Amino acid sequence: MVETKILIVYASRTGNTEKLAEAIAEGARSAGGVSVELKRARDTKPSDAGADAFAFGSHSAFEYMAGELKSLFEDFYPVRDKLAGKPVLLFTTGQGGAKLSSGINRQGRGRIQSCLD
Ligand SMILES: Cc1cc2nc3c(=O)[nH]c(=O)nc-3n(C[C@H](O)[C@H](O)[C@H](O)COP(=O)(O)O)c2cc1C
Repeated sequence: MVETKILIVYASRTGNTEKLAEAIAEGARSAGGVSVELKRARDTKPSDAGADAFAFGSHSAFEYMAGELKSLFEDFYPVRDKLAGKPVLLFTTGQGGAKLSSGINRQGRGRIQSCLD
């Protein structure tokens, strides 16, 4: 059986978002039939865009996503066709919201439309 590859990417300074990412990974693994990879945004590369589904998370930083996640979305720009149409979950910690959706044209949970247009 071909496993669905799920990539969970996060930016975290003091561990809160990392814990959330780990909980999401645990939940995804419990579904079975999937392989789940957990990566820090700064360790994620355009070559990771081949996964079948994604989750992106960041702590709020001055009411925006962390710089390393924005930097990754910039790196993903040349491979945006590999991301378009794939399922995506967004998550954030902090009270101000991290404005992740402005980076991928979607709010919360859905499909990446045209990544980073
Ligand atoms: C430099 C900096 C900027 C922050 N800016 C915001 C903000 O704009 N809004 C907010 O709700 N929280 C803000 N926070 C709080 C963090 O987003 C919050 O504590 C978060 O849970 C930290 O996640 P982490 O443990 O994964 O780093 C900021 C924290 C830092 C260090």
